[in-house]
Amino acid sequence: MTATSDALPTFPPGFLWGVATSAHQIEGDVAGRARSVWDVFGAEPGRIRDGSTADVACDHVARYREDVALVRDLGADAYRFSVSWPRVLAPGGLDFYDRLVDELCAQGVRPVPTLFHWDLPTEVEEAGGWLERDTAARFAAYAETVVGRLGDRVRKWITLNEPAEHTLLGHALGEHAPGRKLLFDALPAAHHQLLGHGLAAQALRAAGVTDIGIANSHGPTWPASGERADVEAAELYDVILNRLFSDPLLLGRYPDGFGELMPGGDVDGDLRTISESTLDWYGINFYQPTKVGAPGTGDVEFSGVTLPSGLPFSVRHIEGHPLTDFGWPVVPGAFTELLVSFRDRYGDRLPPLVITENGCAYDGIDDQERIAYLDGHLRALHRAVEAGVDVRGYFVWSLMDNFEWAEGYTKRFGLVHVDHTTQERTPKASYGWLRDALRAQRA
Ligand code: NOJ
Repeated sequence: MTATSDALPTFPPGFLWGVATSAHQIEGDVAGRARSVWDVFGAEPGRIRDGSTADVACDHVARYREDVALVRDLGADAYRFSVSWPRVLAPGGLDFYDRLVDELCAQGVRPVPTLFHWDLPTEVEEAGGWLERDTAARFAAYAETVVGRLGDRVRKWITLNEPAEHTLLGHALGEHAPGRKLLFDALPAAHHQLLGHGLAAQALRAAGVTDIGIANSHGPTWPASGERADVEAAELYDVILNRLFSDPLLLGRYPDGFGELMPGGDVDGDLRTISESTLDWYGINFYQPTKVGAPGTGDVEFSGVTLPSGLPFSVRHIEGHPLTDFGWPVVPGAFTELLVSFRDRYGDRLPPLVITENGCAYDGIDDQERIAYLDGHLRALHRAVEAGVDVRGYFVWSLMDNFEWAEGYTKRFGLVHVDHTTQERTPKASYGWLRDALRAQRA
């Protein structure tokens, strides 16, 4: 697959162009923060593919000025980063984000913080983590602290990143921190994160914020065949990975049969907290579609994880498309399909969309495959806009190569190459391509 040489179509005026990272994946400086579930999990033998840790990661706390300059020189309007709750717990921890936000503002880049990107403080995990209702309240109190400090300069906020992945990989399958393997008993972690979103949104509102979003991962689910067993398995998968998170936020209800499984006694009351006035826009992280069939032969990996037997569905290979270094199929048309299906499903209940992540893992500095991926996905995004879907922004994952969770440093998602020994940053071909594309958008 190669990028076409034609210029990209022009996006609507005011469209927000950005790049994204997260705290645990880039910051380093473990001495300046409390421990998180990822520190504990990552230190367990065999958890991280290359045996690495995120203790140094991209050394971003020391090098943030250089990194902000890379965002500025790219011509991005906005930078999505996450605030590390364990850093905020450490004395003086918020000072770093004060400096980072000041630097972004000074360089003309809009700061877009995410309040939770998977690095739960160990002290919160030890009290039960997201399986415990009280974590939602603690999260809201933490949100209040952060907005109290940064709210004078930050307008646009994201509460949670990918609660679906955090539930599935972290609590159901045990492939991410905190390493729990609860399968369907992981559902309380989903509910409490959503409740945490609602309570945090209330805290942000109380501080005067009018620009709140969430970053949820979504992708079309395709049945492996027209056979009833495959179609039903695909529907269940779609409910668990997509609608379990979007329906409560956008419709104020869980998909049929799931509300009864949620903890707390007053699920309807919680659903009001989750859905009422908590979103000014809805963030979508898109990477790939998934083909799903009945359980049985043909089970493959989900996000690099071999699915255990006993699940009520299986994930199948999608043939006929190029694969990234992660083995994920590159299917730009699925991006248009997803966005149009969101508009069709949620109609008037859907606030404007922002693409909070899209990107791919490829090695190399002359990363023509990444250019082709971004080119294809931006054209697919534009087709959705032309079809009437209200999309207001797009963030590339990621500004730079970083600690890719259980994959360690083996998967490179960056527009900027990072030498993980010397920390040298080298803009890749895709960085130059995007810089030129953004200039052309503004011409
Ligand atoms: C989504 C996650 O939010 C991010 O942390 C991760 O690095 C990318 N997907 C790529 O897997």
